[in-house]
Amino acid sequence: MNISIIGTGYVGLPAGAGLASHGHNVTCVDIDEEKVEEINRGRCPIYEDGLPELLEEVVSNRQLKATTDTIDAVKNADVIFLAVGTPMENEGDITLDYIRQASKDVANGLEQKEGYGVVVVKSTVVPTTTEEEVIPLLEESGKKARKDFGVCMNPEFLREGTALDDFLNPDRIVIGELDNKSGDLVEKIYSDFDAPLMRTGLKEAELIKYASNSLLATKISFINEIGNLCKELGIDVYEVADGIGLDSRIERSFLDSGAGFGGSCFPKDVRALIKFSETQGEKTELLEKVIETNVKQKTKLVEQLEKEMKLKEKTIAVLGLSFKPKTDDIRQSPAINIISELKEKNVEVKAYDPKAVENMKEIHPDINYTDNYQHALKNSDAALIVTDWPEFNQINREDLKKMKRPLILEGRRMKYEVPKENTKGITWP
Ligand code: UDX
Repeated sequence: MNISIIGTGYVGLPAGAGLASHGHNVTCVDIDEEKVEEINRGRCPIYEDGLPELLEEVVSNRQLKATTDTIDAVKNADVIFLAVGTPMENEGDITLDYIRQASKDVANGLEQKEGYGVVVVKSTVVPTTTEEEVIPLLEESGKKARKDFGVCMNPEFLREGTALDDFLNPDRIVIGELDNKSGDLVEKIYSDFDAPLMRTGLKEAELIKYASNSLLATKISFINEIGNLCKELGIDVYEVADGIGLDSRIERSFLDSGAGFGGSCFPKDVRALIKFSETQGEKTELLEKVIETNVKQKTKLVEQLEKEMKLKEKTIAVLGLSFKPKTDDIRQSPAINIISELKEKNVEVKAYDPKAVENMKEIHPDINYTDNYQHALKNSDAALIVTDWPEFNQINREDLKKMKRPLILEGRRMKYEVPKENTKGITWP
């Protein structure tokens, strides 16, 4: 099938390469000419496991190409995916600027298009957006939804860092459809994917995405709350999580307690759902607490550190700055808040991350960054591990000997072999 994808970010590009590898002819559209050229040379503009190799392959065998020409891409496509960002605007609202612009651009293409095609919203949008925002803009082309073109909403559940694998091996595929004809065509795209496929209405598909992320975030805040209790009891929340997770109705995943969730999705999506519910006259108090608990969780490590020492003029190593390992993304990362708090308390911060230093420098330019974790630990009064990068598991006794006081407070569960008396967990002993 001929597929065009508008937006070549963390969703659009893995989806494009993934669909091309399934034999579809994919055209990726972006307004950024440099990015388009880079893709056409087979180079990957974002860091995602496995994506550079696959992209090179599908570009060289002509299954995928990139362009800045939306009109052309729409004219020749059976299916057009909208995969542009919907970042948080203010206290929770998402901005629809990019999705509106993309819809207008696609409408210009539809105007000149001969024959039927389906426009699919892949961007994360709150319920009713596809019907009330996207379709009216598409119909400005003079063409009519249902009759001249179809519309679907096909949310994406991929995680940063494993985006390609998540796209190729999804737990499920959800297709929200305006009508049967639209859904039938989009279902064909996924005919050789090995995953349950569910067809729903447009609003249902939009809400499935938000409700999924909100429930996962709820699991994390829940286990962090239980973890804070475990800390008081002097017991290990991971043992408790293992015990809970053996119940097949609950399941063990997303019960890893730590310094709070971050990233570009959970904080944004939970807030957006709270805000959207308000517009519908519904208060989502549970979700408000999920966010509240998460905000508090991000302050716990510094609170625990203060119980250990007077912080003024101390040197503290902060290890792990990205919101999770294997990405340079620091959006909503607990490390941002932790460094702010330490600075306020007159602490000298030595920070290290394998990938995210340059990004953190934009927010905290005035702290010391080191080239490796050993340099951060050296002469520090304590270390905080905020993100569990695998390399931190190599920290050993020799590293600890170089610290002024050999104390590591773990915001994430580590697997290194250092004496237990030198470490304390955020929600474990
Ligand atoms: C998430 C969803 O998993 C994905 O389906 C959606 O499409 C986008 O949002 P992502 O933000 O990339 O993906 O990362 P994820 O691995 O889900 O982690 C999100 C945050 O939760 C991270 O800060 C992580 O450290 C934290 N987390 C995750 C926990 O604190 N405990 C857990 O058990 C799992």
